[in-house]
Amino acid sequence: MALFCNFSIFPKPFVPSCSSQKTQFSNQNTKQDSIFRIKGPAALSGHITISGSKNSSLALLAATLCCSGSSLLHNVPNISDIQAMASILSFLGAKVESFDGKMMVNSDGVDKVEVDSEEMKKIRGGFFVIGPLLARFGEVVVALPGGCDIGKRPVDLHLRGLRALGSVVELRQVQDGKVWAHAANGKGLVGGRFRLDYPSVGATATLMMAASMADGITVLSNVAKVMIGGIPTDEPEVVDIAHFLNHSGALIEGAGTGTLVIWGKSQLYGSECVIRPDRIEVGTFMIAAAITRSCISMSPAIPSSVSCLIDKLSEAGCKISQLDQHTLRVSAVPAYVGDDLRGFGIKTSPFPGFPTDLQPQIMALLTTCTGSSLVEESVFDNRMTHARELQKLGARIQVSKSSAIVFGKDEGSSLCGSPVIARDLRGGASLILAGLAAKGTTEIHKIEHIERGYEKIDTKLQILGADIERSTPLPVLV
Ligand code: EPZ
Repeated sequence: MALFCNFSIFPKPFVPSCSSQKTQFSNQNTKQDSIFRIKGPAALSGHITISGSKNSSLALLAATLCCSGSSLLHNVPNISDIQAMASILSFLGAKVESFDGKMMVNSDGVDKVEVDSEEMKKIRGGFFVIGPLLARFGEVVVALPGGCDIGKRPVDLHLRGLRALGSVVELRQVQDGKVWAHAANGKGLVGGRFRLDYPSVGATATLMMAASMADGITVLSNVAKVMIGGIPTDEPEVVDIAHFLNHSGALIEGAGTGTLVIWGKSQLYGSECVIRPDRIEVGTFMIAAAITRSCISMSPAIPSSVSCLIDKLSEAGCKISQLDQHTLRVSAVPAYVGDDLRGFGIKTSPFPGFPTDLQPQIMALLTTCTGSSLVEESVFDNRMTHARELQKLGARIQVSKSSAIVFGKDEGSSLCGSPVIARDLRGGASLILAGLAAKGTTEIHKIEHIERGYEKIDTKLQILGADIERSTPLPVLV
């Protein structure tokens, strides 16, 4: 079996062998008020294994609703966002089993068109189910999604795209914060044309799933570009959805052009795939090596999915090498790269631009480099809240709207341990990285944000030699 995203069609339901013991995906026993306590500065060394991609897993789990029979996803990360998605699918009537890092979903039993709002409010990815449900049942009711509070995050492109596929969509923002949609012809979706104002990952995913089951041909333009059959050079998560749907019997074409042509099919069949390694986790650990001036390696990793970060870290002075097809090593050891890493500027943008999900982690790193650096966030309109937490750790950062000037260690930033709060997933990760570089003890509160997207990050850092522990502070008796 090729390493990632290799598929084979299961015309008939897949029955797991009795030997595979079914271990339910369990909460990473994150008590509500658990904290991470990190003693720094840390020196890391060794190798860690990267988990499967959160965002690909969420989209592919939604795509299993398009398929009859069983779909088997390998390398699914055990994180709370995936548990929320599994609950959404189970609530709808799908049979979801997880064992040995795999998830098997059979959606033949789905008999509801209203999605569980409580679980929906926990994650953004849950909203992707609107596409398959509307296509399959001709109607759907879904609450507006939750997820990281990093900006307005509207769903207008999802809804307008579904209207272009012949549905009547009503967003009852005030009444119940839900979207009510039904097929105008009372049966199902029909092929159509839609141009996305912005290459939204989520809207592309929703509309690909919906159009794959619509009657007729759909043309989607200005999507988060995909590449089919060739080397994936475009938005990795969207490449995975296209591959999965095609292997489930869909017909999606439009390699690398930014325009997708989708021939709708009345039936798709469950298939099997291996979730790609999480490129944001890869990036986070690459930055961990840089910020602690250490040398670590990691696998599996797909170098082309972090090419922008590799360029930036190399520009700063890190030595990055590919040890084999799927193993990366990052060294920022002073003996090799000299004492200082140089600051650099970033501006986030859709893939292959600099990923917005690595912006907070890079900001933490830049406080330990020399010179001042400009960080511009162009994807989300409120993704700078981690800056004030980094300031509590002694970082000197000047924020104005979605830009920030980060002053380096020779310009007033000097990281020292302090209590801080994780306000979202990637912002929380940036605090862990800063804590690893800071003198003294850093306490990170609200780590449930971090555990939405990182599988056992504390254990992996301990393997690399970090002094990080999870603890549940005793309630203060007042
Ligand atoms: C996905 O979010 C990821 N989440 C995000 O990762 C990631 O940051 C983002 O893509 C960009 O790469 C999941 O896959 C679950 P978008 P999504 O639709 O789908 C605007 C993480 O940390 N927009 O590409 O929400 C939107 O406001 C998370 O893992 C509309 O205007 O991203 C934003 O400015 C955080 N209307 C921009 O597009 C719409 O209908 C990008 O959003 C949809 C989006």
